[in-house]
Amino acid sequence: MTALQSRELDDSCPDSAPDQLQELRHDGSVLALAVSDKYIFAGTSKGEIAVWSLGTFQPVQTIQAHKRSVLCLLLVDDFKYLFSTACEPIINVWCPKTFTRLYEIYSTYDVGDVFSVAYSPQREIVYVGTQTQDIQWISLKDSARKSSHESAHHPDRRQHRFFDSRAVGGTSTPRRTEEFYALIPKAEQVLEIDSGAIRQYAHYGWVFCMMIAKGPTVLVDSDEDVLISGGGDGTIKLWKLSDTGPDYGDGDIITGDVEELMVLGEDDSESVMSLAIDGSFLYAGKLGGIIELWDLDTKQKLRVIKAHDGNVNVLKMSFGLLWSGGQEKHSTVHYGRDNNGGAQNISQKYQCLSRWKAHDAKILSSAAVVYHSDQLFLTGANDNTVRVWRVNGMPSQTEDGTGPAEDMMIQSLREFVSYKTVSSRPEFTEDCRKGATFLGSLFKRLGAQVEMLCAGSLHNPVVYAKFSGKLEPSEKRKRILFYGHYDVVPADMKGDNWRTDPFKLSGRDGYLYGRGVSDNKGPIIAALYGVSDLLQEKALDSDIIFLIEGEEESGSRGFVEAIHDNKELIGHIDYVLLANSYWLDDEVPCLTYGLRGVLHATVCIDSKHPDLHSGVDGSNMLSEPLTDLTLLVSKLKDRKNHVNIPGFYDGILPLTKEEDLRYDDIANILIRRNPANGPIEALKRSLMARWREPNLTIHRYNVSGPDGSLISSHATANVSIRLVPGQEVDEVIKSLKSFLREEYEQFESDNTLTIRIDNKAEPWLGVPGNYIFRTLEEAVMRAWGPTAADDSKNGVSVALPPNGTNDEAATKTRKPLYIREGGSIPPIRFLEKEFNAPAAHLPCGQASDAAHLDNERLRVVNLQKSREIFSTVFRKL
Ligand code: BES
Ligand code: MN
Repeated sequence: MTALQSRELDDSCPDSAPDQLQELRHDGSVLALAVSDKYIFAGTSKGEIAVWSLGTFQPVQTIQAHKRSVLCLLLVDDFKYLFSTACEPIINVWCPKTFTRLYEIYSTYDVGDVFSVAYSPQREIVYVGTQTQDIQWISLKDSARKSSHESAHHPDRRQHRFFDSRAVGGTSTPRRTEEFYALIPKAEQVLEIDSGAIRQYAHYGWVFCMMIAKGPTVLVDSDEDVLISGGGDGTIKLWKLSDTGPDYGDGDIITGDVEELMVLGEDDSESVMSLAIDGSFLYAGKLGGIIELWDLDTKQKLRVIKAHDGNVNVLKMSFGLLWSGGQEKHSTVHYGRDNNGGAQNISQKYQCLSRWKAHDAKILSSAAVVYHSDQLFLTGANDNTVRVWRVNGMPSQTEDGTGPAEDMMIQSLREFVSYKTVSSRPEFTEDCRKGATFLGSLFKRLGAQVEMLCAGSLHNPVVYAKFSGKLEPSEKRKRILFYGHYDVVPADMKGDNWRTDPFKLSGRDGYLYGRGVSDNKGPIIAALYGVSDLLQEKALDSDIIFLIEGEEESGSRGFVEAIHDNKELIGHIDYVLLANSYWLDDEVPCLTYGLRGVLHATVCIDSKHPDLHSGVDGSNMLSEPLTDLTLLVSKLKDRKNHVNIPGFYDGILPLTKEEDLRYDDIANILIRRNPANGPIEALKRSLMARWREPNLTIHRYNVSGPDGSLISSHATANVSIRLVPGQEVDEVIKSLKSFLREEYEQFESDNTLTIRIDNKAEPWLGVPGNYIFRTLEEAVMRAWGPTAADDSKNGVSVALPPNGTNDEAATKTRKPLYIREGGSIPPIRFLEKEFNAPAAHLPCGQASDAAHLDNERLRVVNLQKSREIFSTVFRKL
C-alpha cells in the first residue's frame, strides 16, 4: 500500500471579494470574535476584549479581560452572557450589554489553556475544553459552587503553572505586571468547578473546539442539547448531557455529567480546529485545509473537502452557506442541503462558491450577523484587524439557477478523463499513478476509506475504497464489491481521427467524448455518485467496496496478487458488480450475463543470424524467420475460420432449448427496432458466434530491422483466442503450445520457436434469474421507465416491476434484454471464485460508444440513469 498524496486545492473557484465595509484596528491579534445585535467583541492576544458599536463601528470600550491571550468568545442565550476563555485557567462571563464581569470561574485542577467553551441554556451549564485534554463543567446557578476572591484554591494562589501559554497561531504573551492584572474588573461572583465535574481524557489531545447543538442526531430527542467537541487527536465526540452527576458519597451533588454518545474520525489523527453544524450535518475544520462533513444520524463521513492551503481555523454556518477561513486565505463554500433537508440536486452542492483574500495574515476568528437587513461576515486575523464584509447575496448558483456550476459528477469525470492512464505504454506510467491518486482522493472526498493496493512494482496500483453502511452491527451489512478499471487503451491523435482532444472531455449533442468515458471511467463515476447519493439520503445500509485496477487493458497484470495480498482488508464479499460493457443497440437497456475468456499469445521465430540482405544472402538454403512464422501461424485455422488445434471445440456446452429461445427473442427485438439488422437467422447466427463460440484472431506481425530488402532475424505474431464456457484456459494454452511445436518440428528449420502467453482470462457465465440480476433488472426498469413507443409499436417484451404501484402497472415498464458479450474482463470469474459470490454486469453505454476506437463517447443520459440504477441496487441488494 502506498500513501495517498494530499489533494490539490480546487482552484476553479472564483476569486471575488465581497464589499469590505470596515477595517477595525487594534493592537493585538484577533483570536476570537463575537457579535451581538449592538456590538462587535474582539478577543485579543493582549488579553483584552475590544468592543465596537455595530451600527457606527466606533470603539466603545476595551476591557482587560484576561492576563493572557483571549482564545474564545461565546455569546449565548439571546445575548444574555458573553463567555471568554484564555491562555490561563480562568473563564469569565460578561454581560454583553453593560460589560460587567458577572462570573469568574476557575478549576481546582491545572487546566492549562482553555481553548473552548460551550453553554447549554437548557441546563444553564458551562462546559470548558482544556489543554489538559479534559472537559469540565459548572452550573452558573449552583450556589454550592460559590467561592470567594480570596479562596486558597484560586489558580492565582496556586503554584506556578506547568503549561506553556501559546495562542493558536500566535506567540506566547509575556507575563504582565501585577499592575496590569489590576485592570481586570472584579467579578460579581466567583465560582469553583467541582473536582468531580470533569471528564478526563475527553480527547487524547487538546480540546480545541466545542459547541452545543439541539437534537443533532436521531440518538437523542429532537430538542435535547448535545455537546460536541473536536480534539487534537482528530476525533469528534458527541456527549449526552445530564443534570445529575455521579454521587461520590460525600453528600456533594454535582450538577451535570457528560456521557460519550458517539466518536467520529478515529481513522484520521489531524487535529479538529473548528466545528459548524446544520441539522444532522456536522462540518469539521482540520489541519491542512481539510473540511470533513459528517452525518450524525448515520455516523458516516459524507465528504472531505480540501478548502484551504492552511489550517481551517474558522468555520461558520450562516446565511445558508458554510464559511471557512484559514491560513492567508478566506473562502466560502456552498453548504450542502436545501431547507427541507432533502437530498435533491446534491450534485451541485459542496462546491467552493467564492474565495477571497480577507487578510494578508492568518484568519483566526469569525462571526456573522444580520444588521439592518445586511448580511455581515466578520473576520479577525493576526494582522491586528477585524474586517467587516457585506456578503448579501453572495454567489449561490444553485438557488437562482444561474451560475456556471456543472454537475459535480460530470466535473469529476472531466478530471478523471484528463489523466492519460494508458496502461500499455511505459511513457504513461506517471500519468497512471497520478490518475490513481486522483481517483483515490475523489473516493476519499466522497466519504470512502481509501488504500492503494500494490499490484507489483512494475504495475499500476489497485485503488481500494470502502464506503461503510449504517446498518448495525456491521456483521449484518451486505458487502458489495464493485470492480472497474481506471486504465484506458491508447488514443492516437495522428491525423484527425479524433474530433476533439481525447483527454479533454468534450460535450456534444448530449454525448461526452473522451478516451475512457465509456470504458470504464464513466461507469465508475456513476457507481461512485450512486453510493454518494445514498449516503446523503442516509440510505446506505451495506458496505460498498470499490476495487478499481489500472491494468485491465493489459490483461489485469498483478491484480490476482494484489487481491491475495489484501484478502483481509477486503474481507468477505456477498455480490460482485461491474459495469464495463455496452447495450446491443442504442435504445434497449441490457444486462450482461456472459463474457468470453481470452488468451493472448506471442509466437516468436528467431534466427541465429543477424538481419540479412535478401539479395546478398537470401537463398533456398536459408530458413527465414518470417516465412517460418507465416507458414506456422497459417496452420492455426482454416479458410472457414475453423481452429485446427486438436480438441479445441470439445468441451463447449451444447445449445439448450431455453438458450436458443433467448437468442430468438433478442434477434426479434433488434430487428423490430431496426429491420436493417435482419434477416433474423443471420443475426442469430452472428450473435451466437460472437457470444457462445470461440474464435482465433491473428492481430499483428512484427519483424526486426528497418524496411527494405531484408531477411529479419526475428519475427513475431500476436495471436489471441476468445474462449467460451466449457473451455479451460490452461488446457487451451497447453494444446496451443504443443500443436505449434509439433507442426514446427516438421519444418526442420534452423530457426527456433518460442511461445509466450501474454495474458489470459476465463470466460464468465452469470445466472440471469438470481437475486443480484433480479435486483438490477428492477432498478433498470425504474430508471429507464416505460417507453410507450417501444411497447406498443415494437412489441418489446414487457414486465411489471415486482413492487409496482398501480401507476406503474398502468404504464408497462420495459424489461432489460439479457445479453452476453464477446469481449473479456479477466478478473470477473476470478472474483466470483475468490469470494464465492455471484457477479452481475450492468452495461452503461450504448453500442455506438466506440470503446477502444476513435471518438469514444458516452451519452449523458446513460451516465445519469446508471447513477440512479447503482443507487437503487446498492440500496436494495
Ligand atoms: N470493456 C472491455 C470488455 C468488453 C468488450 C466487454 C466488449 C463487453 C464488450 C474491456 O475493457 C476490455 O477491453 N477487455 C479486453 C481484455 C483483454 C485485454 C485481456 C478485451 O476484451 O480484449
Ligand atoms: Mn476495454
